[in-house]
Amino acid sequence: MLLDTDSAIQNRKTIKVLADKDLPCSDLGEVLHQLLALAGMAPFHRACDPAHREPEEAQQRGIEPWRFHVLEADSCRILGGELAGEQAGKIPSMLAAADAMILATWLPNPPTAPSSTVPAMAEAETRFSAFSESSIFEPTLANMEHIAAASAAIQNLLLAATARGIANYWSSGGVLRSPAVFKRLGIPSQQILLGALFLFPSDIHDAQAVGSKLRPHRTPAKHWSRTVNLGGS
Ligand SMILES: Cc1cc2nc3c(=O)[nH]c(=O)nc-3n(C[C@H](O)[C@H](O)[C@H](O)COP(=O)(O)O)c2cc1C
Repeated sequence: MLLDTDSAIQNRKTIKVLADKDLPCSDLGEVLHQLLALAGMAPFHRACDPAHREPEEAQQRGIEPWRFHVLEADSCRILGGELAGEQAGKIPSMLAAADAMILATWLPNPPTAPSSTVPAMAEAETRFSAFSESSIFEPTLANMEHIAAASAAIQNLLLAATARGIANYWSSGGVLRSPAVFKRLGIPSQQILLGALFLFPSDIHDAQAVGSKLRPHRTPAKHWSRTVNLGGS
């Protein structure tokens, strides 16, 4: 059964499944393709910089300002095993449970300012070497809109998963942000992780399911919206 849009929005919630032992690998198959296709319907204002589309830089050459790197269950188990004991927090436990984990990145524009005027970029030897986690991307309107568009794509995927009854979780990523993990997964270093998206099975055996802390503290729309009345009739 597929939830309607309002129900999917209302039902989406953070669910983290933590498993001590690897859960059986299920194949999301065609559903995963559907989720990615729906993610790709998000609005975006500007094409990503051509540098992200160069053959030597990336295999994925779409104009969208995001990239989704998908690990299915068997790859989640392998990565979880490799990260276990590496001060990886809860990530290995979630990789032991997930049917899929998607690293969603956004694509910053190369800096336009001379590196000397952007302190964090002063050491950069090439335009793109500036884009590591230890440096700051330029605070431009274009970059803000790239992040916004990538966020919309992520939310599309989470809602589509919820509509299909798939428990999900948007994580900042923790250890998955590290250059070592990017290298292991073949993610270009000029991409910036926006979310590690976990999709969990409905049968979680004896694993633990945990919700979020902020959800109960949501406020009604009147606390974060206002009507601007300019005195018209
Ligand atoms: C950009 C972003 C990053 C997030 N990263 C984390 C995270 O690292 N750890 C975590 O517990 N929740 C994370 N969350 C989930 C939020 O904690 C959660 O959405 C919020 O508490 C509201 O709960 P709900 O999703 O159940 O409505 C993240 C959410 C967003 C939008």
